[in-house]
Amino acid sequence: MTDVLTVHGGAPLHGRVRVRGAKNLVSKAMVAAALGATPSRLFDVPRIRDVDVVRGLLELHGVRVSDGAEPGELIFDPANVERAKVDEINVHAGSSRIPVLLCGPLLHRLGHAFIPDLGGCNIGGRPIDFHLQALRDFGAIVDKTPSGLDISAPNGLHGTKLALPYPSVGATEQVLLTAVMAEGVTELRNAAVEPEIVDLICLLQKMGAVIKVHTDRVIEIEGVSRLSGYTHRPIPDRIEAASWASAALATGGDVTVTGARQVDMMTFLNVFRSVGGAFEATDAGIRFWHPGGELRAVAIETDVHPGFMTDWQQPLVVALTQARGLSIVHETVYERRFGYVEALNTMGATIQVYRECLGGTPCRWGRRNFQHSAVIAGPSKLHAADLVVPDLRAGFSHLIAALAAEGTSRVYGVNLINRGYEDFEAKLAGLGARVDG
Ligand code: EPZ
Repeated sequence: MTDVLTVHGGAPLHGRVRVRGAKNLVSKAMVAAALGATPSRLFDVPRIRDVDVVRGLLELHGVRVSDGAEPGELIFDPANVERAKVDEINVHAGSSRIPVLLCGPLLHRLGHAFIPDLGGCNIGGRPIDFHLQALRDFGAIVDKTPSGLDISAPNGLHGTKLALPYPSVGATEQVLLTAVMAEGVTELRNAAVEPEIVDLICLLQKMGAVIKVHTDRVIEIEGVSRLSGYTHRPIPDRIEAASWASAALATGGDVTVTGARQVDMMTFLNVFRSVGGAFEATDAGIRFWHPGGELRAVAIETDVHPGFMTDWQQPLVVALTQARGLSIVHETVYERRFGYVEALNTMGATIQVYRECLGGTPCRWGRRNFQHSAVIAGPSKLHAADLVVPDLRAGFSHLIAALAAEGTSRVYGVNLINRGYEDFEAKLAGLGARVDG
């Protein structure tokens, strides 16, 4: 597939798209399969690059991965988990954040894990200090080497009491994937409780894990000595669903997202309605449309669940360029997630970014020189431009902007969008978008 897309904008998107298993659950579910003594079966796996990366890593470690009978079904056989060669693992360096989550399963199975330099979207520093501290708390020894992290557990892994400095999704998953087979009880405070985390807990419970979710972000895990495989259908991708919803709104269109679930998207749906979008949620999915008339400006703050997801922010901002008045977005999860607005401004949007916290949610970025708040003045007529995709969600926002703009835009680096959006070119074509690869 070519890495450039020519987008003839100005036409509303109309039609139906289907979302499958959430990228941010599927990749972790694949890792969890390595903990089982018997094979696991995962349904609704999207064809995206993050899945290929994790599949490659699992195969390097001896997990046999095969396609099941149903489209999107994968079967994992972890009978022969083995050490992989450092140079082979390093092929995956810089391509994803998931390798760090292999630590727990590999330490349990082999007593050793090697983690290459991590990748993922460039939306902030994205350190892994919480992960490494948690692993040390379980008794692991972490050695930093020039090519990556060498982690071992010569005396096994033991349950522990720990509190995360921030409710990090990845660090919570790290603790879960390690604690389920550590000896004794683990108590995690200040845990993330995103729907993808709850789904991972359900999957681990199917495998035989004992995990209690208490109030106030406390999770208690009783280690067990053996887990079996799982059969699991993941929760749908609520980030992709919200991206199509924002695309419908920004282009004045009408898109039904088959598979989207209201319960995972309640916070998004409230904002979508406040802006002036219309939706109808059924058992089959959610229809999102622009009901005509003017969109309204809103003030939002991104936050951990049940707040407004940081990953919903970029696509929605494109729709906010079409709303009358001043919208305010305070990004509290990542310090650098507004890099993409420069491109929107070259297309005619009026977005100003600020270092100040423009909102009341306590935030780690205020007074630290990070431009993490934005004010969007609208409505703006967007015009075509040449755009370069900076990261996954910002890339999709660029696409939405190009679709909403009058004229022909060229979007470079669209392969990055394949990391998290399955078949997006085909889906766009199905919605009537005029795009050429
Ligand atoms: C997950 O990233 C998702 N990625 C992200 O989705 C999502 O934006 C994020 O959770 C928040 O919902 C995957 O699931 C693969 P975090 P993760 O740890 O786990 C800081 C997308 O577009 N932090 O919750 O890496 C961190 O810097 C992606 O699909 C530390 O300081 O996110 C950030 O400011 C992008 N030290 C905050 O916590 C640590 O050791 C939240 O990050 C770990 C995190």
